Amino acid sequence: MKRDYKPVRVGVIGGGKFGQIHLQAFHQMELDGEAKLIALCRRDQQSGAEQCKRYGIAYYADYRQMILDANLDAVSIATPDHLHREMALAAIESGKHVLIEKPMDTTEEGCRAIIRAAEEKGVLLQVDFHKRYDPEHQALERAAKQGDMGDLLYGYCWMEDRLEVPVDWLSEWAPSSSPVWFLGVHFYDLVRWIIKSKAKSVNALGHRGFLSKEYGVDTWDSISVQVEFESGAQFQFQSSWILPREFEAIVNQGLRIIGSRGIWEVDSQMRGSQSCFKDQGMRTWNNNAMREYSNVEGQSRIGGYVVESIQEFARNVNRINSGVSLYKLSGHYPDGYDGLEATRIAAAAHRSLETGEIIRLNS
Ligand SMILES: NC(=O)c1ccc[n+]([C@@H]2O[C@H](COP(=O)([O-])OP(=O)(O)OC[C@H]3O[C@@H](n4cnc5c(N)ncnc54)[C@H](O)[C@@H]3O)[C@@H](O)[C@H]2O)c1
Repeated sequence: MKRDYKPVRVGVIGGGKFGQIHLQAFHQMELDGEAKLIALCRRDQQSGAEQCKRYGIAYYADYRQMILDANLDAVSIATPDHLHREMALAAIESGKHVLIEKPMDTTEEGCRAIIRAAEEKGVLLQVDFHKRYDPEHQALERAAKQGDMGDLLYGYCWMEDRLEVPVDWLSEWAPSSSPVWFLGVHFYDLVRWIIKSKAKSVNALGHRGFLSKEYGVDTWDSISVQVEFESGAQFQFQSSWILPREFEAIVNQGLRIIGSRGIWEVDSQMRGSQSCFKDQGMRTWNNNAMREYSNVEGQSRIGGYVVESIQEFARNVNRINSGVSLYKLSGHYPDGYDGLEATRIAAAAHRSLETGEIIRLNS
């Protein structure tokens, strides 16, 4: 295919559990001539140096230095939830297009500052809400948009991680996050995208004490959130990160939506693919989310909506570099306003937990 743009030059901030997927996603695009992976910044130098050697890229200990020196078009941010704002603002102020992992920021004010900066600089601001790229969710969104389900009235979503996520993977910063920030925002965005409405009121109940007492991780165990949307639709969102290590998948998740003319249910964990290997127990596979395969050149690749969502950001930058306007792209990717709306629900849920009150949101 003829290309009339220079492939996007990307730097990644954060090379941990999820940042490594960003690195691999952009690396694969580089192999296909669609992007250039240039640099990585992460705090832990030894792991950073190893990753940089593997991908043949530059290591930076300081993200500001990377943004200034690495000659980048775009920066993707996969650092702990509460650190996104400072990094996004630094990248945007240097004129870089930015992909931010969910949640965009853990404050409404932070999201608004990032949106303002991106609008002033005229750069792309995309949030990695990859549930929008799941083919099952895309089919549901299309049916809802076409009116097949009538008026969307109510629904229920659940997203629950195994406890190794807060205990082994994120113990350092899980106390600065929560099931709402780490998991809930995925489904707040997904539901908003499907029902095309904003939250009007938020009520939350939460449980804490189990992770802190049993594992020394001082954070919420589970949070249940009830949201009423401006359309009148009412949804329950349950999020937790305390499933036992023996559970068959790292995450249990799904949703059901009921309208005046129909119902749609997606079990996003149990998709009908199961295995059991000696000494490993039962396991379910969500190959829609991520799968490994070899391409015709024998290169080891990962595919699935988790990867596509990140790659779509790089493709959007390529579209911009080939002359497509931000205005034309608008509505075709999760943007800063989508990030803001998910954050407003999550922040309101935490305010509701603190006050015991129903939080009303202004439109
Ligand atoms: N889209 C998804 O489904 C999904 C899944 C998991 C995590 N995430 C999100 O991705 C982000 C990262 O999560 P993770 O699981 O990879 O966390 P992690 O703890 O495994 O990795 C965090 C990385 O950030 C780096 N870092 C921390 N402070 C830094 C600083 N000041 N400068 C440079 N680097 C710094 C660390 O060195 C580490 O490499 C979070 O926002 C999380 O919510 C998204």
